[in-house]
Amino acid sequence: MKPKLVRTVAALRRETAKWRAEGLRYAVVPTMGAIHSGHTQLVTEGLKRADRVITTIFVNPKQFAAHEDLGKYPRDEDGDVRKLGKAGTHLIFSPAPDEVYPPGFSTTISLAGPAKAGLEDKFRPLFFDGVATVVAKLFTQTGADIAMFGEKDYQQLQVVTRMAKDLDIAIEVIGVPTVRETDGLAKSSRNVYLSKTERQQAVAIYRNLQNAAERIRSGVNPQSATRSATRTLMALGFKVDYVTARNAQSLSIPQNRDEPLRLIAAAWLGKTRLIDNIPV
Ligand code: PAJ
Repeated sequence: MKPKLVRTVAALRRETAKWRAEGLRYAVVPTMGAIHSGHTQLVTEGLKRADRVITTIFVNPKQFAAHEDLGKYPRDEDGDVRKLGKAGTHLIFSPAPDEVYPPGFSTTISLAGPAKAGLEDKFRPLFFDGVATVVAKLFTQTGADIAMFGEKDYQQLQVVTRMAKDLDIAIEVIGVPTVRETDGLAKSSRNVYLSKTERQQAVAIYRNLQNAAERIRSGVNPQSATRSATRTLMALGFKVDYVTARNAQSLSIPQNRDEPLRLIAAAWLGKTRLIDNIPV
């Protein structure tokens, strides 16, 4: 089924009002387009929990720093609509930047807690303010019952969950496990930037996280396990931003042995920045 495509908040609300009048429950899947099977998995999971699914496509300028890849971020709306339709999305909201940030727009959400864990925030200082601002808008514009987010962007998932709770936005944020290529590389819209050789090397991040998790489970101290993963990745030619073991919810540095842990990593391979994470 071809999903309906709307570009304005007014048109979006006309569609959701019909669903509400019918008593239907609906999910939102926020994306920046360049749809791959990680995104369509969020749609699939949304369909299990709701009667209708809205996918939003918006390359949010507020979450890109001046030196980042906003200009060259992959865009293919026709392809995205086709893939999302096949996955079962009912409605696509794909607004222009001016619809989201009209002249005079002056509000930004400022965050603490998991947004200041010293992970992505350390390397991309304005990133989560931009994410939280657009996601809060998408939550209120859609009025969805549930929102699907990937564990792939683990800190983002925690930040958005906390933000919705703190602002009393009546939406349940649901995390979906990372979808991977057959070799284990996390699917990402940015993987298209990798050269053939880099693509083969890229899976080392996941492999080293798995190895570190295994060592931690067998009694090795999390810090030494992540330190040796860092060294291995550096030796393979990665420029490592971080490989770290954190509390799985607060993202703070673990204080005792029985805390639930998440191993989280970010590293550059050439000009491409890759992120990944796994539970211990
Ligand atoms: P984007 O990178 O397009 O990702 C949209 C959603 O898809 C996010 O929730 C992300 O975690 C999820 N996702 C991406 N790759 C995945 C994978 N391999 N497996 C499972 N889920 C995956 O994240 C953003 O966009 C933006 O920051 C956004 C939330 C849309 C705000 O602008």
